Amino acid sequence: MVYQHILSELRAEVLYVTINRERKLNALNKETLSELAHVIAYAESTAAVKAVLLTGAGEKAFVAGADITEFAAFSAAEGEALAREGQHNVFDAIERCPKPVVAAINGFALGGGLELAMACHIRLAADHARLGLPEVSLGLIPGYGGTQRLTQLVGKGHAMELITTAEMISAERAAEIGLVNHVVPIGELQSKAGELIEKIKLRSPSAISYAIKAINAAVSHEENGFETEISAFGACFGTVDFKEGTTAFLEKRKPNFSGQ
Ligand code: COA
Repeated sequence: MVYQHILSELRAEVLYVTINRERKLNALNKETLSELAHVIAYAESTAAVKAVLLTGAGEKAFVAGADITEFAAFSAAEGEALAREGQHNVFDAIERCPKPVVAAINGFALGGGLELAMACHIRLAADHARLGLPEVSLGLIPGYGGTQRLTQLVGKGHAMELITTAEMISAERAAEIGLVNHVVPIGELQSKAGELIEKIKLRSPSAISYAIKAINAAVSHEENGFETEISAFGACFGTVDFKEGTTAFLEKRKPNFSGQ
């Protein structure tokens, strides 16, 4: 598929995805969301992809939110459909992706932009980035999972304050409350993300996919996470990666995982 609003490049087993609407601060319009859904499905189904690195074009914004021009005239039913489809096709799909998806937050991450970063598995931020869920200042609430994922990540108290005040916080503050994992100068954002991904690439892809599933189950309302962990743990014993990992340990050599 030829993308109009995102750039996607597979290099050394890492899929680099850049939201590329710099003049609109990478705001998520309908086409961008559908391209993101497509690229995540590609990452999931392509064995050569070991991890995804998601960022925004330029140095000003990661994503400054859903595209306000598109939904300004929506009815209640249209608004509900927008949230339902977006959550299902993009945000939940990223969270459930069996390959780690790392967000490199290169500037503003607001509204749907912060929701996108929160759907990713790991978040790194440039030190000038500003993060927030300002929807109540538009007469809205977050609709792409923001009320849930922010509460899961930072706890109810911080989530209530951030969402009801609509205030942006600094990257440093975001790290203090657990909203991002690391803060680095913009010039080091890609290399820091690369460092993390290189570590991930050394590990068993099949075990990583089971770990993502079990960690997600910890915050699922539909699953008992302990049960998910037990069955995922058991499933690991049936993988080639498990055989290779344990054999390599016993033979005192580095494992060479196939992902099977
Ligand atoms: N949807 C649609 N367009 C957006 C957008 C969004 N969420 N965020 C920014 N843009 C557009 C602006 O309309 C502007 O377009 P124009 O040049 O055609 O007028 C362009 O991106 C640049 O943004 P601008 O507002 O001029 O930049 P700024 O430096 O003055 O302010 C922000 C930056 C991020 C503070 C400001 O753009 C903003 O508040 N954006 C909306 C954030 C938001 O409420 N997001 C949640 C949406 S649910």
